[in-house]
Amino acid sequence: MDYSALLRNCKTLLSRSSSNEEETLTQLCELLQTQIDYYNWVGFYFANQDTQTLHLKAFAGLPTDHTVIPFGKGICGQVAVSNNPFLVDDVSAQDNYIACDIHVKSELVVPLFVLGENIGQIDIDSNTINAFSNEDVRFLEELNAAIAETLY
Ligand code: SME
Repeated sequence: MDYSALLRNCKTLLSRSSSNEEETLTQLCELLQTQIDYYNWVGFYFANQDTQTLHLKAFAGLPTDHTVIPFGKGICGQVAVSNNPFLVDDVSAQDNYIACDIHVKSELVVPLFVLGENIGQIDIDSNTINAFSNEDVRFLEELNAAIAETLY
């Protein structure tokens, strides 16, 4: 996968983005999901600090029931608290995991920072076990930085 070319395409999409943040994020999800074959579900959750919950704002892939996730719950909720990326090679080995789709085998969640504050995250599900590497982590960190710069 040529991550730098894909990142350039994401940045172009961001630079042409309308004022509708949800639409832009949905387009990004669709771009990633169609360009990387092992990205089967791609979504963005954003944090509400008052209620200590994450809220799904945009996604590509099957609809999920888990549109609101409490901080600390599941892989996403843990990232809201830890502020660190969480790469899961095999979701069946995780105790604190929220299953959205029985076909998912691995998951990667990377926080999105604005001025040092963890305001949300990108969540990728894969139907392939051990799908993700540190290259995916770096790519998604750079993408989140570009989103933070452009949209927030
Ligand atoms: N698996 C996630 C929940 C979100 S779904 O993947 C869309 C978790 O454990 O937090």
